[in-house]
Amino acid sequence: MKFFVDTADVDAIAELNDLGFVDGVTTNPSLILKSGRDILEVTREICDMIDGPVSAEVVALEADAMIAEGRKLAKIADNIAVKVPLTWDGLKACKVLSDEGNMVNVTLCFSANQALLAAKAGATFISPFIGRLDDINLDGLDLIEDIRTIYDNYNFKTEILAASIRTVNHVSDCAKIGADVVTAPPNVLQNLAKHVLTDKGLDAFMKDWAKTGQQIL
Ligand code: E4P
Repeated sequence: MKFFVDTADVDAIAELNDLGFVDGVTTNPSLILKSGRDILEVTREICDMIDGPVSAEVVALEADAMIAEGRKLAKIADNIAVKVPLTWDGLKACKVLSDEGNMVNVTLCFSANQALLAAKAGATFISPFIGRLDDINLDGLDLIEDIRTIYDNYNFKTEILAASIRTVNHVSDCAKIGADVVTAPPNVLQNLAKHVLTDKGLDAFMKDWAKTGQQIL
């Protein structure tokens, strides 16, 4: 399973990238706002840093304007995935932009039928939002499972990019289900390394080591 980082914070991306953990990056208008950066400038910087797909989201709501924005974003670098919302106009833009050879990430997916349409419109990635479904007492992981079944039934090549990841359990559950990609905020990726028994065990080892009076270096 690939790890994308869900942020426009270049320092956070760089730190994770140095560890080899970054297969791609996703951004959205809220993350651009949080970064305080110009969208074209920060996206270019991220594309220069990362070999994998970097999602940059259109903000127009009508298909022709989305296509124009998508073409402009795609010119930033070869590894741009144009992100379009899962609306009727977004699907039109997805079809045109993917037919032109661009990677397209269809975002804000909340149902299996939406995912089916995105695949038929040529999406490279479908982004089902797990956390936001959990927020309204639905089960986001059920959606990932349903899309996996449907895409496998018909051999769709669209990759399932599990988004709105809030917990470390979301990551392992997506891996068990067979999502192709998870996109998670930097803190969730860092938290994957944590375990209370690791901390407890290390603490005991350090106390015993101090009692030996030895040094390695
Ligand atoms: C990524 O592509 C999505 O925009 C992002 O994961 C949404 O996450 P959120 O629901 O935590 O805002």
